[in-house]
Amino acid sequence: MSEGEAGSGETLKALLPAQVQSRVQTVLVKNGAATLVVDVAGLDSIERERTEAAIREALQGAPGISEVRVAMTADKPARRIIAVGSGKGGVGKSTLSANLAIALSRLGRKVGLVDADIYGPSQPRLMGTEGIRPTAHDSKMNPVRSPHGIGVLSMGNLIEPDKAIAWRGPMASGALGQLIDADWGDTDILVVDLPPGTGDVQLTMLQKHRPAGAVIVSTPQDLALIDATRAMQLFNQAEVPIIGMVENMAGYVCPHCGGVSDPFGSGGAEDCAAKLGEAFLGRIPLTMTIRQESDAGRPPALGDGPEGQAFMAIARRVLTWLDNQ
Ligand SMILES: Nc1ncnc2c1ncn2[C@@H]1O[C@H](COP(=O)(O)OP(=O)(O)OP(=O)(O)O)[C@@H](O)[C@H]1O
Ligand SMILES: [Mg+2]
Repeated sequence: MSEGEAGSGETLKALLPAQVQSRVQTVLVKNGAATLVVDVAGLDSIERERTEAAIREALQGAPGISEVRVAMTADKPARRIIAVGSGKGGVGKSTLSANLAIALSRLGRKVGLVDADIYGPSQPRLMGTEGIRPTAHDSKMNPVRSPHGIGVLSMGNLIEPDKAIAWRGPMASGALGQLIDADWGDTDILVVDLPPGTGDVQLTMLQKHRPAGAVIVSTPQDLALIDATRAMQLFNQAEVPIIGMVENMAGYVCPHCGGVSDPFGSGGAEDCAAKLGEAFLGRIPLTMTIRQESDAGRPPALGDGPEGQAFMAIARRVLTWLDNQ
């Protein structure tokens, strides 16, 4: 076959397995060497190796071909990061992140979850991945698969349990970078559970990894709201758009009498969002189920109970926002 010979590229392409054919962009044949440009976007490194091996195997011994060259192109996947933050600790960022990841995947998206709380990781417990060590290849980590099918990476999977981490800011930021730049394959939404506060790790995360948007969690209480407002200012400064605000621990439903009380007040986050001109994404009740199921590694967003529905409603609003960008 000679360069530009009509049909030669197509003839070679026809020898490839169908799933590989659809990824081949061009085939050029010159002096017995076939050069194939293959789109490998969304494939992890093992799948890429398999694709290349399949091409070599299929074209080995093809008439007139003495050499096969495979060039892979992968436009960086259009992966978007959603950061879940709050100024204050313990308001439910990790709980919301885990359940948002599950709910988004129930809505058909390919979702990954990064626990950016380097010093106090909680996602291994919440996602049922405690004690599983991530593997690595080509100096990239492979996310740990949770029993619910979501890829998760957390420092909690890399350190020994109960060992405190005493890293300085740059090391913590470096570690976070490795979690975010891991081999996320065809994941299209990465939910990042931020640590509380507005320190180094948060700043680096925002500046370096440019989330598409941020979800702010607060309880309805005044003090938590003041901190949430601070977190919003941080996102504004870093020019990360705010998707909206979630009110967590709103309305306690008594498991005995069914009566509703409001330990942290009610509606504060919605009022605060309105005052700041931000969207209100929804309200998660304070329930025993959320605490118990979370501790057992079964995020309630997996189910269709009232808690699951509340998380699904928030995920729908987040998706609508993302899809309108
Ligand atoms: N809606 C809820 N109902 C009942 N318990 C909840 C609810 N939201 C969170 N919790 C519980 O509150 C505790 C703190 O939640 P979580 O760890 O998600 O907060 P956080 O903001 O990530 O905390 P930190 O700032 O320490 O990272 C957990 O024990 C969690 O199970
Ligand atoms: Mg947390």
